[in-house]
Amino acid sequence: MKKKLTVLSGAGMSQESGLKTFRDMGGLWEQYDVTEVASPEAWERDPALVLRFYNQRRKQLFEVEPNAGHLGIARLEQWFDVDVVTQNVDNLHERAGSSRVLHLHGELIKARSTIDPVLVYELDHWALDLGDLCEKGSQLRPHIVWFGEAVTEIPKAVRIVEQADILVVIGTSLAVYPAAGLVNYVQKGTPIFVIDPGKPAVHQPNVFYVEEKAGKGVELLLEELKKLM
Ligand code: OAD
Repeated sequence: MKKKLTVLSGAGMSQESGLKTFRDMGGLWEQYDVTEVASPEAWERDPALVLRFYNQRRKQLFEVEPNAGHLGIARLEQWFDVDVVTQNVDNLHERAGSSRVLHLHGELIKARSTIDPVLVYELDHWALDLGDLCEKGSQLRPHIVWFGEAVTEIPKAVRIVEQADILVVIGTSLAVYPAAGLVNYVQKGTPIFVIDPGKPAVHQPNVFYVEEKAGKGVELLLEELKKLM
């Protein structure tokens, strides 16, 4: 039986595809005030601005491709039973071929109803506008978990991490909870590989740092993992 390998990814995973991270120099949260574009209050105050921010993100997503890191993670399925738990709202893991991807913070390519959260729609175009309505007649909003909103997929993610034989953390500053706390749910002794040039602190035993970008880092990881197969 294949070993269970869980990947926990963040914005750094998609940096080499051309998408900006949030907290690095020149990152998105340097350019935008998070409370003005990614909070329920922002949506109340100025929905057009919020829609414009996510429309730009979505437009860009239609223009970029998965990078060597995403492709390498998809390839790991040849040898491991892989789950990807991502904070990213892009769909680059799926487009690279990963079969099980859990999005903690929502998905750019989806919109959801503002009166009935189970009504979620996949968008085949990049622009979501004021006046775009759900089937019950209410405005559609980005299918994104904003600051101050519940991360409903966390219990599922905890179960995945608890079952992992190997955990791989890629391109996340581990600054945002509850996602950052997931690394603490590994079983004792589980090896944790952290691929990130910024070396975010993971306070667990058995942590192996690969201080490289995702593309190169995943290639090196594969060499290391071959020893554990
Ligand atoms: P951050 O911007 O906080 O962190 C990006 C991480 O990626 C840093 O640790 C960098 O060192 C690393 N990095 C940069 N380039 C890289 C590369 N090419 N390869 C590998 N690593 C690289 O992004 P996240 O941790 O994902 O939430 O941020 C978490 C959440 O905060 C996001 O999901 C988003 C944001 O606010 C929402 O918008 C709800």
